[in-house]
Amino acid sequence: DIPSLAETYKDFFPIGAAVEPNQLNGLTAELLKKHANLLVAENAMKPASIQPTEGGFRWDQADEIVNFARANRMQVRFHTLVWHNQTPDWFFLDAEGKPMADETDPKRRDANKKLLLKRLDTYVREVVGRYKDDIRSWDVVNEVVEPAEPDGMRSSDWYKITGTDFIETVFRAAREAGGPGIKLYINDYGTDDPRKRDRLYELAKTMLDKGVPIDGIGHQTHISIASPSVDNIVESMKKFRELGLDNQITELDMSLYAWNDRSDYGAEVPADVLRRQAERYRELFDALKANKGLVSAVVFWGIADDHTWLSTFPVTRTEAPLLFDKNYQAKPAFWAIVDPS
Ligand code: XIL
Repeated sequence: DIPSLAETYKDFFPIGAAVEPNQLNGLTAELLKKHANLLVAENAMKPASIQPTEGGFRWDQADEIVNFARANRMQVRFHTLVWHNQTPDWFFLDAEGKPMADETDPKRRDANKKLLLKRLDTYVREVVGRYKDDIRSWDVVNEVVEPAEPDGMRSSDWYKITGTDFIETVFRAAREAGGPGIKLYINDYGTDDPRKRDRLYELAKTMLDKGVPIDGIGHQTHISIASPSVDNIVESMKKFRELGLDNQITELDMSLYAWNDRSDYGAEVPADVLRRQAERYRELFDALKANKGLVSAVVFWGIADDHTWLSTFPVTRTEAPLLFDKNYQAKPAFWAIVDPS
């Protein structure tokens, strides 16, 4: 019998995993129950899942995850109130069914913006109202910063139509609907990269100065065996802590390839590659333990290598980013962070 990950880290932070409702049975459920004390919906709490049509709320999938967590005494994280992906088109269509972002008339642009912010406000109050007692940490906006853009913001429909007003609206509505007990996060990837980190810092600071209720930064942490350095990851979190913000690792996994690497290991990943992966995981968790309190949660984006979003990319290659292999067996990476001797 192997040690429990959640138990191993109980004095540091909860250990989470992203799941689909159809993973809440069989061997995956057993692994989750043993090793995780926090769950995140991989897709079931995104706007496209919860409100596919205006006013047409669908709670069944999200409820399944909340109910499983409750039955097994796990916490839940919410992912995500706002994103530019997996959001139904109806949000961004005007009263005549035309894309709001195409509107050029200033008066109509203004009316569109009001309508979109109203839709957002309604959505957030409904969702937060439903889950505020079950879910403590919330990704409020996801991936809004883009340092390659002239103004450093991703040019999503949200941004094109409202500027940064959608960020203010969604945080304020979430706080009003959820009260002080829920924790509100800006979530993003690549937060270790100094350009991204500094832009995100600037955004968070501007918002905090205006009184926008932001509690923390969610660092996705989709990393690879090659990069980024653990030092950069930790340094970035320390910077946000100076603003009084909490940090969480929200989508941890570790690809076996550098971003543009087109090679493939084939069916079996070589042992030395798995060992290198284990060393990187060990280095990361050692740093988190050495900086106790720096993160308040660590969530893996999956539980075993049989199910990982990395395999959905057009480049098909053998991805094995998690701690358990496709047969649900503990990998060297698991042992490296459980028994670091
Ligand atoms: C991914 C899911 O894992 C996939 O199943 C889905 O097809 C696309 O979205 N960053 C995020 C997550 O914030 O929501 C993404 O999840 C992975 C990258």
